[in-house]
This record gives sequence, C-alpha cells and structure tokens, in this order.
Amino acid sequence: MRDSGIPGIVYFFAGVVFFAAVMAALFISEKTRQDDTAQEEVQVPATLPPSQQEAGAEAPVTIPSREDLRAMGLGPLPPIGMPADNPQSEAKAELGKLLFFDNRMSGDGLVSCATCHAPGLGWGDGNALSLGYPGTMHWRNSQTIINSAYYTQLFWAGESKSLEVQAKSAMTGNLAGNLDPAMAEERLRQIPGYVQIFKEVFGTDAPGFGDALRAIASFEATIISSNVPFDRYMDGDDAALSEEAVQGLGLFTGKAGCIECHSGPLLSDQGFHNTGVPPQPEFESNPLRQISLRYQHRARGVPESVYREADRDLGLYYTTKLDSDKGKFRTPSLREVGQTGPYMHNGVFKTLAEVVEFYDRGGGDDPSKDALLRPLGLTQQEIGNLVEFLRALTGDQIIIEAPTLPEYEVLP
Ligand code: HEC
Ligand code: HEC
Repeated sequence: MRDSGIPGIVYFFAGVVFFAAVMAALFISEKTRQDDTAQEEVQVPATLPPSQQEAGAEAPVTIPSREDLRAMGLGPLPPIGMPADNPQSEAKAELGKLLFFDNRMSGDGLVSCATCHAPGLGWGDGNALSLGYPGTMHWRNSQTIINSAYYTQLFWAGESKSLEVQAKSAMTGNLAGNLDPAMAEERLRQIPGYVQIFKEVFGTDAPGFGDALRAIASFEATIISSNVPFDRYMDGDDAALSEEAVQGLGLFTGKAGCIECHSGPLLSDQGFHNTGVPPQPEFESNPLRQISLRYQHRARGVPESVYREADRDLGLYYTTKLDSDKGKFRTPSLREVGQTGPYMHNGVFKTLAEVVEFYDRGGGDDPSKDALLRPLGLTQQEIGNLVEFLRALTGDQIIIEAPTLPEYEVLP
C-alpha cells in the first residue's frame, strides 16, 4: 500500500544517511581518544617480563634510550679473542683464505668451504637444507660463517667448541669435505706455493693439517659484520634506522620479548632453546637427508635405539642425551639475517616475516617448547616493524673474489 505518499525507498535512504552519520561520529570520537593516548607518555619499563605484558594490546611502543639499550647489553661487536695457540695475523688469515676457497681441500677435489659458504649468498648456500658432500644430502641448513668467531659453540646445536675444531669436522666429515688429514697434508706438500707460505706463517718445513685448520679459523675471524645500520644508530646516528625499524626495536626489547634469547652484541645468548620449529617437508620426503641425520649421530656415538627412532633433528639432545634437551638449538645471532635466509636449523622459513609470524603464534606446537614463547598478539604493522628492525641488523655484503691458488707440481 502506498497510502502515505512517500515511497519506501526514501525511508530507506534516510535510514542509511542517519546510520552513516552516527558511525562517523563514533569513529571521530574513537580516533580522538586514540590520538590522546598516543600523546600520553606511557612509561613501560624497557623489558617488561612477558607475563606482565598484555597480549594484543595496541599500546604505543616504548623506545628504550641508547643508555637503556646499552644496559641491556646491545651494542657493537667487541674485538675477537683468538685462542692462545692461534694468535691472529694477517699473513695467516691470507693463507686461510686460499684454503677456504681451495677445492683440493675435499676428498674428490670438487668441494671447498666456499661451496656451502658462498660470499654472494651471505656466506651460506642459499638453500633451505645444505647441499652435502657429493652423493650425500645434508639434513641441516648451511650456516653463515659471518661473525662465527664470536660463538663459543658452533653448529646449530653447538656440537663444536672452536673454529679450529669445527674446521676439522668440516674438512674431514663425510657430509662436507670428506678428506683424510694425511691426504690433505700430502696434497699441500706437493704445492710449492703452499709449502712456501706455511713456512713463512708457521715456520714449518712441510705444511701440517693442524696449521691448515688454524689458518682457516684465522681467515673466518676476519669475516665480520660492517656498516650495520643498528650499530650506526647506537653510535648516535638517528637517521640510521627508519621509523618502522625504531618501532621494531621497541617491540624486540619489549612486547615481543625477542631479547630474552637474542641478547648481547651478537644478539644471541649462546644458550639452547626449543622453539618448536615445524618439520621441513624436504627432510620428510628425502631418504638421503634422513640417512645423513642418522649417519651423523651414529658417527657421534648416539645409541642406535635413539637415532633410529628419531623422526626429526633432536638438536642438543644428541650431545647430552637428556630428554629435556630434545629439540633445543643454539640461539643464532640475528646479525646479517637480511642476507642469510632461509631460516632455522632446517631452513623451514623462507622469509623474515614468516619467522616473526611464527613467534607471533607463540612458536611451534611442541609441548616442551621454551616457556618464554607465548602468543604475542602483534598487529600486521608490528610484524612489519619487527622485520624492518631485523633488516637493520644486516650490514654491507662481504664480497671476496675467489683468490688465485698456487698449483701442484711434480716431484723433482
Ligand atoms: C657440503 C656443504 C658444506 C661444506 C663443504 C662446508 N660446510 Fe660449513 N656448514 C655446513 C652446514 C650444513 C653447517 C651446519 C651443520 C650443523 O649444524 O650440523 C655448517 C656449519 C659451519 C660453521 C658453523 C657456524 C655457526 O654459526 O656455528 C662453520 C664455522 C663452518 N661451517 C665452516 C666451514 C669450513 C671452514 C668449511 C671448509 C673446511 C666448511 N664449513 C665446509 C655445510 C658445509
Ligand atoms: C626462547 C628463546 C628465543 C626467543 C624468545 C626468540 N628466539 Fe629467535 N631463535 C631462538 C632459537 C633457539 C632459534 C633457532 C631455532 C632452530 O633453528 O630450531 C632462533 C631463530 C631465530 C631466527 C632465525 C635465524 C637464522 O639464522 O636462521 C630469527 C630471525 C629469530 N629467531 C628472530 C626472533 C625474533 C624476532 C624474536 C622475537 C619475536 C625471537 N627470535 C625470539 C631462540 C629464541
């Protein structure tokens, strides 16, 4: 019935206009309220214990002062302390560089350290899981060697205690260099260029295997972050970090609690934690990678009953055999993460955003994961800000051309 004379459509439009006006008013008042809060100086202690932080709260992020950041242990890397039996020298590092790039330092003469630690790929190999020595496929991600001289324990689960010891595993281990030490020495001794340099550096008549390892460690100790935006910021250059990165820094040290484990100049506590990293499909579907995991742990004396039952990398547990250490890995440094993806011991995350989203969910679903991990309630903007901060921990690319190597000669 159209008895009123006013078409229904008019009522409808009047309703829409009224509704829109009410919503706009509400929106404006809400906006004003938010702006007010933003102007308030909310004084939250820089590292509030995670339990006291309100997940999901849209509170403005407190940016710690440089003094606070230094008190938290953040700042530039200190000078490297080399072991007493391997004092640093330029000539030794130069020799180490030759050896690092020399394919003859592997069993089949085709693989060098630089094959899996390539300068152009952040000194890793760019793959989720590492290549492995020809005929094998590694079950872990190839780590960067940038800043590795700062670690007191090397490898994803800290299995090696020094760069020198690590270099021995790398050169002789069946999954990496697969070279017998005696063979290494005989090869070096038949390269007059090396005989000469070893003599100059170590005073020996014939190159020795242990000295080769020392030289490699000495070279690695020269591959260090430089010109890192966050370091410049700490030096007083406000412009070194974008506004997003500064917000990310506030989250890193506050609401997101990253600094609980990624602490100190290296952004690693060098401790071991289980974050519940999800399985890597490439490992799950590749027998060669599974063989490598089992082989490696068998070779390290892990009981057969243990390594044959494992369907994943148990990390620190293989060393300690303590149930409570299952799934624990060494906290990696966050320096240079902008050039070292994919991430985690099994390379399961391709991007930094994926890593931050993983932490936002409270880590993986391993029931025995670290108690420090809990859902963070980050907004998309906050996730982006954290990623920006992580990028600001990355310095200049360290590009070193493969050097010209001295050649074999026949015996006189
Ligand atoms: C076939 C690939 C491959 C080759 C060749 C290789 N590595 Fe590695 N490297 C890896 C992988 C994979 C890891 C991590 C292994 C683990 O955690 O068990 C690693 C780890 C390291 C680390 C530990 C870094 C850290 O943060 O703890 C250093 C240092 C290193 N390699 C140096 C070397 C040196 C020196 C050589 C040559 C003598 C070498 N690597 C040869 C794949 C390789
Ligand atoms: C409970 C300690 C802990 C906390 C808290 C923590 N991490 Fe980690 N982080 C680790 C450990 C351990 C690994 C290595 C895990 C693995 O490979 O299984 C890691 C790995 C990473 C990596 C990968 C690095 C690489 O080279 O592959 C990034 C990036 C990272 N964390 C960023 C963060 C950020 C950002 C936060 C805060 C949101 C955070 N972490 C909080 C312990 C922690």
